[in-house]
Amino acid sequence: MASAYAVLKFLHVLSFVFMAIPLFNLIVVNERALLGVPFQYHADRYMENIIRRGATRCFVFQGTVLATGVLMLVAGPLGITALWGNWVLLVKTVLLFTLVTLLSYVHLRLQPQIESILASVTADSTPAPDLAARLKPYRVRRKRLATVCLFLVITTIVLGMQVYGRFSAGLTVTLIAFGALFAWRANRTLLRFGWV
Ligand code: HEM
Repeated sequence: MASAYAVLKFLHVLSFVFMAIPLFNLIVVNERALLGVPFQYHADRYMENIIRRGATRCFVFQGTVLATGVLMLVAGPLGITALWGNWVLLVKTVLLFTLVTLLSYVHLRLQPQIESILASVTADSTPAPDLAARLKPYRVRRKRLATVCLFLVITTIVLGMQVYGRFSAGLTVTLIAFGALFAWRANRTLLRFGWV
């Protein structure tokens, strides 16, 4: 049983590590902005494909985190009732469903609007002069949501480490504030040196 639990915990940790997709999407869009050209079919199509298909991967990792989390409760010492009896687990689960909801909005509402604007553009056609301006409001909103998701993933990790032992409130608040600062920096800059 111990090894089964260890495998669950390994998959739990690996899946939320891969839930860092919002960070890399922010890097992708900031690199695209750095190209400086308004709209370039291949560059924009490449970026949109990375982000669009990344959503499906993220749903799978979110599902794996949830499944392994529940299985660890069932297989481990805490029991499934800890899901509502342990506030850390309850808040983690609420944050996970918030992440699923935000990703669903991006994938099912925002991305199709971007795709419908891009549908008329091909590699051979000259893009309409207002194309970049029409894409901008959706891309700005998507970037903001990626920033919020990155912050929520970091916050859930801070809580995740406290399932069995609590940090001081001061440390928890400091780490979450660091998460907010890092997510903001990831929105604004290329983070060339990882943390800055
Ligand atoms: C985005 C969502 C989540 C993230 C980022 C996350 C993160 C973490 C982290 C960082 C740990 C500590 C691992 C360690 O001590 O090495 C952990 C442990 C744990 N998580 Fe999650 N978690 C998430 C969602 C959930 C959910 C939804 C559940 C339950 C339904 C859950 C149940 C657990 C349990 C039971 C442990 C303790 C494992 C152990 O130390 O034995 N997690 N999680």
